[in-house]
Amino acid sequence: MAPLASFLAVAGLASLVAAVPSPKVGITVGTTVHQVRNPDYVSNGPLALYKTYLKYGVNPPENLRKYVERSGFLTKRSEATVKSTPTNNVDDAYTIPVSIGTPPQVMQLNLDTGSADLWVFSTETESDDVGGQKLYNPSSSSTSKKMAGYTWTISYGDGSSADGDIYTDKVTIGGITVSKQAVELAQDVSSSFTLQNTSDGILGMGFDSINMASPSTVQTFFGNAQSKLNSPLFTADLKFHAVGSYGFGFINSSLHTGSIVYEDVDNSNGWWSWTSSGYAIGSGSFVSTNVTGIADTGTTLLLLPVDIVEAYYNKVSGSSYSNTYDGFTFPCSSTVPPFTFGVGKLRFKIPANYLNYGAVETGSSTCFGGIQLNLAVGTSIFGDVALKSAFVVFNGASKPTIGWANKKL
Ligand SMILES: *[C@@H]1O[C@H](CO)[C@@H](O)[C@H](O)[C@H]1NC(C)=O
Ligand SMILES: *[C@@H]1O[C@H](CO)[C@@H](O)[C@H](O)[C@H]1NC(C)=O
Ligand SMILES: *[C@@H]1O[C@H](CO)[C@@H](O)[C@H](O)[C@H]1NC(C)=O
Repeated sequence: MAPLASFLAVAGLASLVAAVPSPKVGITVGTTVHQVRNPDYVSNGPLALYKTYLKYGVNPPENLRKYVERSGFLTKRSEATVKSTPTNNVDDAYTIPVSIGTPPQVMQLNLDTGSADLWVFSTETESDDVGGQKLYNPSSSSTSKKMAGYTWTISYGDGSSADGDIYTDKVTIGGITVSKQAVELAQDVSSSFTLQNTSDGILGMGFDSINMASPSTVQTFFGNAQSKLNSPLFTADLKFHAVGSYGFGFINSSLHTGSIVYEDVDNSNGWWSWTSSGYAIGSGSFVSTNVTGIADTGTTLLLLPVDIVEAYYNKVSGSSYSNTYDGFTFPCSSTVPPFTFGVGKLRFKIPANYLNYGAVETGSSTCFGGIQLNLAVGTSIFGDVALKSAFVVFNGASKPTIGWANKKL
């Protein structure tokens, strides 16, 4: 079975678990590259308030906005590109190198826009739960500090989970540093994480409201870093079986062609939720229909409403829903059609080869589909299968938006 993941935080959505294919393992590993200038961030009350407005998706009052603009605190700061290189032939997930502590301990973390916790395997992780991951050791870092009384526990859409306690420490990605980032240390992880030893944890890039720290939430790396970025955004240029990149704080125009179409993001559930303008199957005509879904780098596949998924597999000979594998399968010899989704007037065609996830078991002639049902949550999930077909901008401005453009090939 091809490794799959759905690292979508699912507090209160236990029913999602059944909707997502369960096997997961593997992961791709990244190498880094980048530059950056990184002036210290000056803190001040109105700026903190301004950031609070941004954090909750509220437009700051005009006077506050003017003050902050005048103050020069938003005059800009830095940007970076972090590349990732697949090490196997299955794009289960994409990890990037993240430096934690002083001196830096470099961890490979899965950048996940569907959750908002930065957690790592650590020297506190139960030894039975460790399967070769690198362990963050707060005692070896001169900048670590325990957040007394804080704990965290999270469950993801694929049924995996983790929990532990929390430190703050210096965290650097591509040269962008947050000096007191909350780093959640795993004490226990579910077995799928133990088996995934090419990933040392997760870097949640969803909205702070779904952070799972207790007694109160802690800010994500993106939330903390926004004030240091030239623009409050990050970009994803994920690739099929090839080197891709995440960019922080700027849009690299060499990575896309044509204009970027932006759609509103509804972050009321903490996710990058947006609405697609419709779809087409193979060479069929475009069906205009609103499909609301989450842009989730931490989910491998594209999960859609039942009518669209059934229409798609009607075009795949020999396909059927498999209870064994919890998803649509088909004879590996069948041809699957490409799938197109709309962003406003733009169209993104997912090529057929992204949509065959390979044999359900080693040696089997039955293959697993890259498009699957999203039965439980009243929303679709635009996972890596969809994201790989575009250049995507996650814009965390006061009113968040998501931008889609064609990749420059
Ligand atoms: C922008 O993308 C191009 C093409 O991948 C790359 O060569 C260049 O280094 C990138 N620029 C930055 C600032 O990362
Ligand atoms: C990493 O995982 C692979 C596959 O699960 C396993 O064969 C290998 O022994 C693990 N490495 C370590 C150091 O535990
Ligand atoms: C999609 O939603 C928008 C905004 O609610 C609405 O104006 C439009 O008619 C809808 N389109 C379709 C095809 O349902």
